[in-house]
Amino acid sequence: MYIVKRFEERVVVVTGGAKGIGRACCLRFAEEGAKVAVLDLAMEQAAQVAAECERLSGRPALACHCNVADPASVDAAFKTVVEAWGSLDVVVASAGIYSGQPLIEVPLAAWQKVIDVDLTGVFLTNKAAATIMMNQHCGAAIINISSMAGKTSWPASAQYSAAKAGVIGLTRSVAMELAPYGITVNAVCPGNTMTEMVEGVAETIAAREGISADEWLRRRAQDCPMKRFASPEEIAGVVAFLASPDAAYITGQAIEVDGGMVMT
Ligand SMILES: NC(=O)c1ccc[n+]([C@@H]2O[C@H](COP(=O)([O-])OP(=O)(O)OC[C@H]3O[C@@H](n4cnc5c(N)ncnc54)[C@H](O)[C@@H]3O)[C@@H](O)[C@H]2O)c1
Repeated sequence: MYIVKRFEERVVVVTGGAKGIGRACCLRFAEEGAKVAVLDLAMEQAAQVAAECERLSGRPALACHCNVADPASVDAAFKTVVEAWGSLDVVVASAGIYSGQPLIEVPLAAWQKVIDVDLTGVFLTNKAAATIMMNQHCGAAIINISSMAGKTSWPASAQYSAAKAGVIGLTRSVAMELAPYGITVNAVCPGNTMTEMVEGVAETIAAREGISADEWLRRRAQDCPMKRFASPEEIAGVVAFLASPDAAYITGQAIEVDGGMVMT
């Protein structure tokens, strides 16, 4: 594939960058010349991704410990990045977790944990990013990873769907606030994407339905008009487009990258 270098010397922060979609975003921005900061709880994998980024970009990369549900941890990670590189051009909020049970079985703690990471985590990330970006040049971009679950839904997904729909509302409000500063804010709503998260989802739901995880994955692929899952790289490509100058006039959108799933 031909890769253009749209992000030479740009500073990119990715939460949840150690694995899955976040990792693919880190590598894509690095391939295009960016200095990438990988923020995650999983430090061993974050350090590996940062090393891969340095190899791809020939520029420095950082691995920073960050719990997106903890305001002090988020602020400290962003401070580390700005102290190292002096500015902030792109932030991708990809850190997320999944849990799902039938509504009457959802423990309050499970509800709270998903809301804390998947919704409050995006709020804290956007707040930290905006605080820095509003005081610098125009042309910065924030991309929040929501889900097709934020646009449509399934049974036994209350906490996840609520958080992901919340991310879309948050994205629109923040987009309106930051538009006068020349900062775009968009959400990407992936469909089923082959990552560790989806493997975990498959095991949870398949066990409830009395089928194997492989069978659940096969059925979900068949539900999709394109008859397959996305790769993390396909989601990262859209994220990179939204951060690029070609998307400078797109803001407040929640873009489905789902092989047509929500359309059905
Ligand atoms: N995989 C899919 O099918 C799919 C579909 C739609 C949306 N999404 C969303 O995409 C995003 C990435 O998902 P993925 O599939 O790559 O998952 P993943 O489990 O492969 O990666 C998630 C990353 O987030 C990190 N993380 C979790 N909690 C964190 C916290 N509190 N602070 C910092 N980092 C934390 C994990 O350590 C991990 O590196 C999530 O927001 C997810 O909800 C995924």
